[in-house]
Amino acid sequence: MTTIKATLIKKFADHTARIGIIGLGYVGLPLAVVFAEAGFNVIGIDPIREKVDAINRGESYILDVDSNRVKALMDAGKLKASTDYANLGDSDAVSICVPTPLRKTGDPDLSFIASAAKSLAPYVHRGMVIVLESSTYPGTTREMVLPELESEDGLKVCEDFFLAFSPERVDPGREDWTTINTPKVIGGISPDCGEVAAAWYGQALEKVVPVSTCEVAEMAKLLENTFRMINIGLVNELAIMCDRLKVDVWEVIEAAATKPFGFMKFTPGPGLGGHCIPIDPLYLSWKLRSLNYNARFIELASEINTYMPRYTLGKIQDALNIHKKSVNGSRVLILGVAYKPDIDDLRESPALDVIHLLQEKGADVVYHDPYISQIDHENLQMCSVKDLMQEVVQADCVAIITNHSQYDYPAILDAAQMVVDTRNALGDLGKNHPKVVRL
Ligand SMILES: NC(=O)c1ccc[n+]([C@@H]2O[C@H](COP(=O)([O-])OP(=O)(O)OC[C@H]3O[C@@H](n4cnc5c(N)ncnc54)[C@H](O)[C@@H]3O)[C@@H](O)[C@H]2O)c1
Repeated sequence: MTTIKATLIKKFADHTARIGIIGLGYVGLPLAVVFAEAGFNVIGIDPIREKVDAINRGESYILDVDSNRVKALMDAGKLKASTDYANLGDSDAVSICVPTPLRKTGDPDLSFIASAAKSLAPYVHRGMVIVLESSTYPGTTREMVLPELESEDGLKVCEDFFLAFSPERVDPGREDWTTINTPKVIGGISPDCGEVAAAWYGQALEKVVPVSTCEVAEMAKLLENTFRMINIGLVNELAIMCDRLKVDVWEVIEAAATKPFGFMKFTPGPGLGGHCIPIDPLYLSWKLRSLNYNARFIELASEINTYMPRYTLGKIQDALNIHKKSVNGSRVLILGVAYKPDIDDLRESPALDVIHLLQEKGADVVYHDPYISQIDHENLQMCSVKDLMQEVVQADCVAIITNHSQYDYPAILDAAQMVVDTRNALGDLGKNHPKVVRL
């Protein structure tokens, strides 16, 4: 007798399975495109009408996904988008890629996962597999998503439908490791759930790494991001220590990085940014607090990283001081506000904190970013300046916060009155330069 598991695996093998992707952002849209390019019919669900309309016109709003790819898939009838969950009714496999931010209190905000699971529940049917991709604390898939999906129609996981967790590892802006060739960890509620999910992803991605449970997969993602966050905290503190010791931190890091084993290079900066590194470890520490355990490494690294925008403010003060100027009344040009180079993502960017701190001290702050034409964030509304070089000349201080590769740094240094370089964007040019204050 053919089981629902065997039927589903066969549908993946012959690419007749219909795929649904919930949440068409930085993670969901590339994933939808990859499945559609592998030959599956894909429907994407997102509540934002503008995103859905853009996809249905064959336009991408994610830098890593070329519009030509979306257009080709639309024309071939392989990809479409909708705001209506009812379109998932005939899907065989659904991936949930919704945001997992922090609340103002610093606690995990799982409302997007809860809402997606609740909206999907009426359409869960026999022979469906669901994979949660959003980064979250261990236990979320089993303790939170599963009860939502099992409650409808009396369907039972592992008997009627399958549920697994597979963390997304995409690094926006990166071209060598993409959604297709980055190994994909997958763990199910049960071994069968994991096997079905792996059979699905294995049809479109180069390498699937099965693990025994969804909790292992959830924790693996948090280990990866906590590892980065703690190591960035370490080099940020190293930068502060080197400053006191009057030692060049950038040279120290380059020297250490020549060790061919046992060392991995991380670089300091004005603070952590993005939707993952500053947030995911706090999901873990929050969960551990509920189990009466204090995740000390995470708390300490978070404290140091959170301090970096204020440390950057100090560097800007030092730079202005050289010209006998105060922050109050000075014009400061922030160069780059995206949270990392060559992308258009402003989420959790330390630039926002640096701008706020400067404004609090009375600075006249402007910014330039080739990827972000305007900032509309809580009580901060600004537009990127139009004439970059004119602003460089006019500013009392230029603060390089994000080292986008398209900037002509030698020309900027030449034209600026003072430069604060938080990323070593100037390299050797900035070393011992009278106009430059480095992190
Ligand atoms: N961006 C990254 O680099 C990255 C990398 C790895 C993992 N992640 C994780 O992946 C998850 C998604 O991140 P992202 O960067 O794609 O976020 P995003 O904000 O870019 O995209 C999420 C999308 O989900 C949509 N959405 C919100 N609620 C929804 C709902 N109830 N139903 C359907 N759609 C809904 C939003 O409109 C948005 O388009 C997060 O948990 C994040 O931590 C992100």
